[in-house]
Amino acid sequence: MRESFLNQRVTNLKPSGIRKFFDIAATMKDVISLGIGEPDFTTPQPISLAGIQAIQHGETHYTSNAGIIELRRALTAHLEKMYGVSYNPDTEIMLTVGVSEALYLVFNAVLEQGDEVIIPTPCFVSYQAEVELAGGKAVEVPCRLENNFAPVPADIEAAITPRTKVLFLGYPNNPTGAVASRETMEALAKVAQKHDLLVISDEIYDRLVYGFQHVCFPSIPGMQERTILLGGFSKAYAMTGWRIGYAAAPAEILKGMLRIHQYTVMSAPTMSQLAALEALKTGEPFVREMVSEYDRRRQLIVGGLNSLGLKTFEPRGAFYAFPQITLSGLDEETFAERLLHEEHVAMVPGSAFGTGGEGFVRCSYATSYEKIEEALRRLERFMRRVG
Ligand SMILES: Cc1ncc(COP(=O)(O)O)c(C=O)c1O
Repeated sequence: MRESFLNQRVTNLKPSGIRKFFDIAATMKDVISLGIGEPDFTTPQPISLAGIQAIQHGETHYTSNAGIIELRRALTAHLEKMYGVSYNPDTEIMLTVGVSEALYLVFNAVLEQGDEVIIPTPCFVSYQAEVELAGGKAVEVPCRLENNFAPVPADIEAAITPRTKVLFLGYPNNPTGAVASRETMEALAKVAQKHDLLVISDEIYDRLVYGFQHVCFPSIPGMQERTILLGGFSKAYAMTGWRIGYAAAPAEILKGMLRIHQYTVMSAPTMSQLAALEALKTGEPFVREMVSEYDRRRQLIVGGLNSLGLKTFEPRGAFYAFPQITLSGLDEETFAERLLHEEHVAMVPGSAFGTGGEGFVRCSYATSYEKIEEALRRLERFMRRVG
């Protein structure tokens, strides 16, 4: 018998550095997890009710491949209102099983074997894996604390080779909380134009910003025709389990993505699409309420970490703080492992998010204010021992 029936693309994939810590944490009692990448809030009631009613009313069938037209129309209206970008709901937008599926579709639709994708890091753990699964090569460009973790256009340009096809952007950023300014986005747009790159912009955290303006990349003049915008309902509406995301793209690219979606997924969950429609109709006050609570926790955690000597950039978006742990004298893996074993607080080592994450850990503040207070007390004890 063969040693393995798995193909090399799969055996070459590194296991996610996030999962390992969750697995350890799951075996322990009394753990405060700052490792989680999803809202601690449950889905707002009217949105859940819309999903329940959809099932009760027999909305239990497939929808069209791209998703129900009412939701595609509502989404295009939403994007127009928020960012002034116009998409055709018939040909330029589709509903997916979260941004996760959209990532799978887009790389498989556009990459030839060996095509390079430039990815500013640290970044969400799936990007590199999805690129490699689709036969591409992920080229990491590290972002730095001294630049507030914003991508530096000159560094991006320096990474371009004749094989570069895609520039990938993920702002507001997981895990750093960075938000790219208009000036940065415009400079990146120039690079994309000059080198004829396709841009994929994962804007799943667009609504979670704290006093900073999110710039929707396709809203920059000339960019919509070369950008695939990815967004979703998981974070802003606390709907991770409903599995609804979307892609908005030029019609030709969207058609390619839709072809793969048609053969792999068919259509995003019907009841979840109806819940998402309700989210767009009535979810706004809930989004504002959750953002305001995240902001309160953000201030607590950033203040707490800095006062312990763990230098922390003030996150401008998403729900993560990304402290530098140099003062502890430990590397990020050892720091996270010891903190979990000794004080029962889970954080994720920054290196799980790619180059540039070394010497940092990710702390999610999508957990209650009281738990963050307790985690900071435990961390203080830990730092007194190791620091
Ligand atoms: C930056 C980023 N993109 C995409 C996703 C995937 O989200 P979903 O598949 O729930 O839409 C996540 C989830 O953590 C994320 O942090």
